Amino acid sequence: LRIAVLASGRGSNLKALIAARDAGALPVEFAAAGSDRADADALRLARDAGIPAFALDPKAYASRRDFDRELFRRLDATGAGLLVLAGFMRVLDGEALKPWVGRTINIHPSLLPKYRGLHTHRRALAAGDAEHGASVHYVTAELDGGPVIAQARIAVRPDDDEHSLAQRLLAEEHRLLPAVVALIAQGRLAYLAPDGAALDGRR
Ligand code: GRF
Repeated sequence: LRIAVLASGRGSNLKALIAARDAGALPVEFAAAGSDRADADALRLARDAGIPAFALDPKAYASRRDFDRELFRRLDATGAGLLVLAGFMRVLDGEALKPWVGRTINIHPSLLPKYRGLHTHRRALAAGDAEHGASVHYVTAELDGGPVIAQARIAVRPDDDEHSLAQRLLAEEHRLLPAVVALIAQGRLAYLAPDGAALDGRR
């Protein structure tokens, strides 16, 4: 399976995917890594791993839709069969996303449907939750609203702050995301084309 990854910042989840591939645990080829920030560490990581990397500057486009059209034009050109959002901090335009619905996944640091959007760790702590977690879900036009594929859970400790909670969860994210991508790549998780046709994950 050829995959493309989008990331806006640090890129630790991209790093985990690359490490899993290098360890032989993830049968994928990285078709491209893209970002909305030219200075994203994720792009540096990608280039160091020999993955074709590109950045698009949102300010260079008149609208979100124009940006997303160009983004998906680039992604289409990579021949990727799966798009992985790993810390990509932009909402995608529903029209531009349409052909990719069913083959775009995102990792979100909460136990969805709880805490869509930002500051999930802070919100879990403020709510006094005993458990926190991360979700990998299909991406739809609704922010963090697509069907959940798999989750990782951790216990919230009495002495946790936002930072400690985020750190502990991140280690779980780094297992969860490669595991889900592996299931798709091995054809063990069905995923759907927008027209409802099943795609072969191994293509
Ligand atoms: C992760 O917490 C991920 O769940 C969220 O953004 C963060 C990205 O971290 N969507 P990184 O760039 O992969 O290190």
